[in-house]
Amino acid sequence: MRKIGVLTSGGDAPGMNAAVRAVVRCGIDRGMEVYGIERGYEGLIEGEIREMTMSSVGDILHRGGTILRTARSERFKTEAGQKHAMNVLEAFGIEGIVVIGGDGSFRGGLELSKRGVPVMGIPGTIDNDLGYTDYTIGFDTAVNTVLSAVTNIRDTSSSHERATVIEVMGRHCGDIALYAGLTGGADNILVPEMPFDINKVCRKIIQGKNRGKLHDIIMKAEGVEVDTQELAQMIEERTGKETRVVILAYLQRGGSPTAKDRMLASRMGSKAVELLYDDEESRAIGICGSEICAYELAEALEMKSPFNTELYELADILSK
Ligand code: F6P
Repeated sequence: MRKIGVLTSGGDAPGMNAAVRAVVRCGIDRGMEVYGIERGYEGLIEGEIREMTMSSVGDILHRGGTILRTARSERFKTEAGQKHAMNVLEAFGIEGIVVIGGDGSFRGGLELSKRGVPVMGIPGTIDNDLGYTDYTIGFDTAVNTVLSAVTNIRDTSSSHERATVIEVMGRHCGDIALYAGLTGGADNILVPEMPFDINKVCRKIIQGKNRGKLHDIIMKAEGVEVDTQELAQMIEERTGKETRVVILAYLQRGGSPTAKDRMLASRMGSKAVELLYDDEESRAIGICGSEICAYELAEALEMKSPFNTELYELADILSK
């Protein structure tokens, strides 16, 4: 294969630029032409495609966001949208593409793959919700961003002897809450994978108060089916402790990627190019232990993300 495309799709994630850079530079190194497709599948349908050079990905390794920009394309979910996208790829002579994104973006890639275009999926999402890979690009940075917020919130929470509910992203996955909660010493971690028990939450807060604890951090994943403001109210009513809410929202999606995310992105980008160069079939690229792995795309999408109950229990013990 000599002509490949690369796009970023869905919610952006720190490290997407590092992955684009790796795809472009590894592709050019192998003598391939690499095309940047802007605004994900939306830009593909519109033919927003430009050839990339070594220098077009210069000075982006450390930047959050994505220079290719991103979109969640409704049009691409339709038969007509997909046919149109195929015509555009043919017009540009693009033989295979690298899709950097999450679950929805991979499903889009699978549709192109069924129509005969090899697609290499690179997991770029802060959610860490793709079952076939231990980690996704952007997750580590998001966890560190949340962690630095927790450190600040803890200061003011202690001064005022308050409880603070911090809501973090992750869609249906509790990994951001789990990792940032454990490493930030949260007193309670609420994730969609585990049952929500208001009595347990309040018990820990009351026990902490009786031990002379000044602050309480309740780390809540957005996927937990209880409204965050209502939760704070319930805690305040039941424990008598003044309770505030901080919703970190998009703060978690920006920022310079950590070394871990840059490393992951660089290795996965290189693997995607290698597979396209070798004319392999569509794959989802991941990290399994310390090795870069590649699963058949459809199979990868079926794999469920196992929740780490061991870490969850450890966090509970450490915060008693
Ligand atoms: O998938 C990444 C993510 O940030 C989720 O954690 C969150 O639920 C969602 O995207 C927010 O999407 P949007 O950018 O459309 O508001």
